[in-house]
Amino acid sequence: MSSWYDHAIIYQVYPKSFQDSNGDGIGDLNGIRQRIPYLQKLGINAVWLNPIFVSPQVDNGYDVANYYAIDEQIGTMAEMDSLIKELHAAGIHLILDFVLNHTSDQHPWFKDALANPDGLYRDYYIFKGHDNRRPNNWGSFFGGSVWEPDPSGTGESYFHLFDKHMPDLNWANPEVRLSMEDVARFWLGRGVDGLRIDAFIHIAKANLDQDFPTTADNSQPVLAEPFYANLPQVQSWLRPFSQRIRADYPDVFLLGEAASANVNLAVDYTSPEAHLMDSVITFRYFPTTNTGIDSAIATNLQPASIDWPEFKKTQVTWQQTLSGVSRPILYWGNHDMARVMTRVAHTPVAAASLAMLMYLQQGTPIIYYGEELGMENLHYDTVAPFADGSVDDFVETAQKAGYSAADALTMASATHKMPARGPMLWDDSAHNGFSTHKPWNDGRSDETASAERQSSDPHSMLSFYQQLIQLKQQALFEDGDYCLLSTGDDTYVYRRQLGQQTAYVVINLSSQKTVITLPAAAAQVMLSAGDYTVNDQQIILGAHAGLALSV
Ligand code: GLC
Ligand code: CA
Repeated sequence: MSSWYDHAIIYQVYPKSFQDSNGDGIGDLNGIRQRIPYLQKLGINAVWLNPIFVSPQVDNGYDVANYYAIDEQIGTMAEMDSLIKELHAAGIHLILDFVLNHTSDQHPWFKDALANPDGLYRDYYIFKGHDNRRPNNWGSFFGGSVWEPDPSGTGESYFHLFDKHMPDLNWANPEVRLSMEDVARFWLGRGVDGLRIDAFIHIAKANLDQDFPTTADNSQPVLAEPFYANLPQVQSWLRPFSQRIRADYPDVFLLGEAASANVNLAVDYTSPEAHLMDSVITFRYFPTTNTGIDSAIATNLQPASIDWPEFKKTQVTWQQTLSGVSRPILYWGNHDMARVMTRVAHTPVAAASLAMLMYLQQGTPIIYYGEELGMENLHYDTVAPFADGSVDDFVETAQKAGYSAADALTMASATHKMPARGPMLWDDSAHNGFSTHKPWNDGRSDETASAERQSSDPHSMLSFYQQLIQLKQQALFEDGDYCLLSTGDDTYVYRRQLGQQTAYVVINLSSQKTVITLPAAAAQVMLSAGDYTVNDQQIILGAHAGLALSV
């Protein structure tokens, strides 16, 4: 059965950073509504919005205090209804972020759980232990222990995989499962077309009595992924949820965030027989090398190069294993990682070639707002805007290891997620047309040309993305077979084939000129980035150049 999302080209909007409409420096729903013509012209046909619900914004909306109302910084329910209607009128589907693993500690369920230890809502969360002692040594993704003492003084502790202000829901409780299903139904009933299901692989936890084996000091929390990721109950609890929702909304797109899941789990989560997700987003796409990495300071905040041979293996594995099962999600960036221009590409030609490489493969593209302009990470001159204690530690250790504070901040700015969430560069006015006010996320931005300037330039990145999106919508690139060719480490070459139609995508990953011989003579160049020469079967590509051609 074919569905709208088989041909989706998704554009990820970080609502707080896209367009401010009321001059408070924070992007909002009315701002997004103003920019629908831009989205239409770009050619995308679906938008994924990061969370917009009532939230104390400890984690920029992933800490939800009310799933049934829009955060007042972001808009109103009436504006949301208008946004849905206007997107649909423009032929654009809407996917909402659905945070089901945890709530905010300001959610009424959690407040009730604290106020009434014997009440119904206590069991909506995970409380355990006594004398404020941690029940086990498991570590949180946001640092420290997963346990936080019950502030109401019972001596128990509550479980939080992310920030301590984001207590995990107890999915073992059937009431929780039904309550979250109600939330999903509420939004689908208002016309939303899909849900990006946040952190779903973490809803089940192993026996809380057991420590995770560690050779280090057992009083220190350790990451214990096998105890809280991809447990079998994830599937048994979500299957009825997904089946019941689909019974009423057969066209819903369920897009799961499956960070650490390997490709075989991705098959389990997305095979049509499993009745769980339609597609999953993996975090395993971008293996990096150790070259130039200083082991004396935190490695995750140092710029690293992609390990291209490993990247190739990963891509072809996901392409082949999911073939005939589900559509791989194709992306270079999102709100949790540095922008592709800063992290990988470094030059506009490389960025264009990499976009071609990724999005013309089998699967569904997700383009992170501003990527189509070649936007880079912001640069912060102080640690404050990172709002992340691990950056403070990094700058301190880096200075002890002989780096200047400025160098350490440059490294963190190039690798951290917060500077990737900068305001959209609309035009050349003050605050780049994003707002009349200083943006909530303020940093130095690069020299990237604004959307306005790029829209009148046929050779701009924006124009390239428009052409790429059009090309992707040809049946050959939507539905054709995929086959990676064995070429050297410095090139990435694959074939797409559908009936009598064949195309090759040929990318130079290096800064050296390279020559590739195709199995057949080229007929027509469909899209290009950088310098190239085509002589029948022989393709000469300049530094980081890329081509899509038919034969
Ligand atoms: C997901 C989101 C991330 C958030 C986390 C907790 O990984 O992408 O931004 O912090 O879940 O909700
Ligand atoms: Ca605003």
